[in-house]
Amino acid sequence: MPGPGWEVEAEAPAKLNLSLAVLGKRADGYHDLRTIFQAIDLRDRLRFRSRPEPGIALRVEGPEPVSAGPENLVVRAGEKLALRLGETRGAEILLEKHIPWGAGLGGGSSDAAAAILGLEALWGRSLPGEERRALALEVGSDVPFFLLGGTARGEGRGEILEPLPPPPTAAWVLILPDFRISTAEAFRALPPRLTSSEQQTKLQEAAVISGNFKVFVENVVNDLEVGVVRIQPRLARIKRDALRRGAAVVGLSGSGSAMFAVFKSQGTAEQLLEEDSFVQGVRVLSCHPVDIGARVVSA
Ligand code: C5P
Repeated sequence: MPGPGWEVEAEAPAKLNLSLAVLGKRADGYHDLRTIFQAIDLRDRLRFRSRPEPGIALRVEGPEPVSAGPENLVVRAGEKLALRLGETRGAEILLEKHIPWGAGLGGGSSDAAAAILGLEALWGRSLPGEERRALALEVGSDVPFFLLGGTARGEGRGEILEPLPPPPTAAWVLILPDFRISTAEAFRALPPRLTSSEQQTKLQEAAVISGNFKVFVENVVNDLEVGVVRIQPRLARIKRDALRRGAAVVGLSGSGSAMFAVFKSQGTAEQLLEEDSFVQGVRVLSCHPVDIGARVVSA
């Protein structure tokens, strides 16, 4: 049941970039990427009900408040979808926000994907898959991934997707600093010399397919990290401290500020998880890869 007074409920998982290579700048100002996306079990929840007049009325609740204005990707996605469908009804949407914004976890993009699917269920009308994916990309580079979910290779801006099997078994800890990073700023801080990271994402993909933990962790890489650490030097110390507590590797997700630590087993992750003040102003929480994306959970 979507909850009293609501007609549809959807959920929106966060993502990590297990590796991210920036291949170069494009004529349209975006960058071509090669990345491995992973959906995780930190999620937002969205509830929907229709209203006779057009427009999307958004309300936001929960521990990670964000603006409910027209710049929210839920509103942008909803209004574009209504236009594309020629839908004259509108909707009220309640967004229960748990995924921090400005963290590279794709929360806003996942909410947008959940809004597209939730509104289609609410209005009883859908776009053909290809048009839905195109609309998702208009809203943001990461939105198409959330229509798919699970583990996937992303190319182009991240919209050319190929599903992959889940990564090798491990214990995952999400590291959430108390500062936020703008994606556009992170791309502007990209160092001019590009690295061998494209090859590393290929090696990591092979390790995901073969289930090789060692090769998988050796190829956790993110080309945005050098520039982002220049913007927020505290990230270097947070990473060093997590490695000291036994992490096999610590990666930056997207443009940060969230990092993820991968441990060989749950036992080795406990030291980091049980420490109350790992680094001041930094929260840690256990997370797990999931094989789903944004989805309607009841209608
Ligand atoms: O697509 P999205 O709105 O999430 O991107 C935010 C900003 O990040 C873009 O305006 C651009 O500056 C940068 N970006 C990029 N190349 C990508 C994705 C994002 O340069 N593939």
